[in-house]
Amino acid sequence: MLETKINGVNFSSCLMNASGARCETYDELIELGKSKSSAIVSKSSTLEFRNGNEFPRYKKLPFGSINSMGIPNLGYKKYIEFASELKKNGKPYIVSVSGLSESDNIKIIKEINSISDIDFIELNLSCPNIIGKPQVGYDFIQTKILLEKTFEFNKKKLGVKLPPYFDFVHFEEVAKILNQFPLSFVTCINSIGNGLFVDIESESVVIKPKGGFGGIGGKYVKPTALANVRKFFELLNKNIAIIGVGGIETGIDVFEFLLCGASAVQIGTTFVEEGAKCFERIENELREILKQKNYKTIDDVIGKLKLI
Ligand code: SIN
Repeated sequence: MLETKINGVNFSSCLMNASGARCETYDELIELGKSKSSAIVSKSSTLEFRNGNEFPRYKKLPFGSINSMGIPNLGYKKYIEFASELKKNGKPYIVSVSGLSESDNIKIIKEINSISDIDFIELNLSCPNIIGKPQVGYDFIQTKILLEKTFEFNKKKLGVKLPPYFDFVHFEEVAKILNQFPLSFVTCINSIGNGLFVDIESESVVIKPKGGFGGIGGKYVKPTALANVRKFFELLNKNIAIIGVGGIETGIDVFEFLLCGASAVQIGTTFVEEGAKCFERIENELREILKQKNYKTIDDVIGKLKLI
C-alpha cells in the first residue's frame, strides 16, 4: 500500500530519513537500517572529515527547529566503506554529497560511481550553514555547470537536494535547468536558510554559529515545502521523482505531500526529536488515512491535489 519506486528502485514505503538528522555515524546508519525508514540516507559528506560549526548549533523551537550544524561528517570515504554492511538490510542506500567546491563534488561523485552497494547519490545544493559559502541552488549558473560536469561521466542514479524557492520565476528557471539532466529525483526542501530565533528570557539568540542565524525546519516550513513540491511537480519532467521534506510530523502531513506530487518523503526534525520509532508511527497513521479514504496505494494519491 505504501510502496514507492524511484527510477526503477523499490522502496518498501514512501518514508525515509532526511539527510542531516541522526545519520552521521556508523551506529546511527545501522540504527536506520533496523528502523522502518524505507531507505538509509547518509549525512551530507565532504572530501574530508568535518567537525562542523561551534556548539550550541541545534535548538528545538516551539514549532520546529533551528540548526547551523556546518556539515559535521566522517568524510565521504567512510560512507563508501559502510555501504556493504548497510546493504545487508536490503534497503536502498543513498549517500548525500555536499562537497565544498565543484571539484570536490566531482571527485566524490566519480568515486561513488564505482560502488555498487550505493543505490543513489543525493547531491546537496542547499546547505545554508557553511560559513562563507552561499547555497549553490540559488546560483543558477553554478548549478547548471555542476550538473553538466557531473553528467559528463555520471552513471549512478542521482538526485539533487534543493533550497526553498519563493518566486514563480525562480521555480521556472530552476526547472528549466533540471529538466536538461537525467535526474532520478529532486528533494525539496532543505531548511529555510538563515532564520533567527530570539529567546526573550535571555534576550539572546539560541545557537552560536553565524551570530544565531540558522536553517529553520519543522512545522514553520511546511507550507513552503508543500509549495515547492507542488511547483516542481507541475514543472519537472515526469521521470524526475519528487521527494518532499519539511515539517512532517504525522501521517496527515505525508498525505498532503503526496497530494502535492511527492513520490516519497523524508523526515528531519521529527526524527531528531522522536527517534527512529517515528517511522513506524507515521507509517501507521498514513495507512489509516488511506484506508479511511479508500485509497489502495499511494500512487492513487500522488499529485491529485484539487484546485478550487
Ligand atoms: C548542516 O550540516 O549544516 C545541515 C545540512 C544541510 O542543511 O544541508
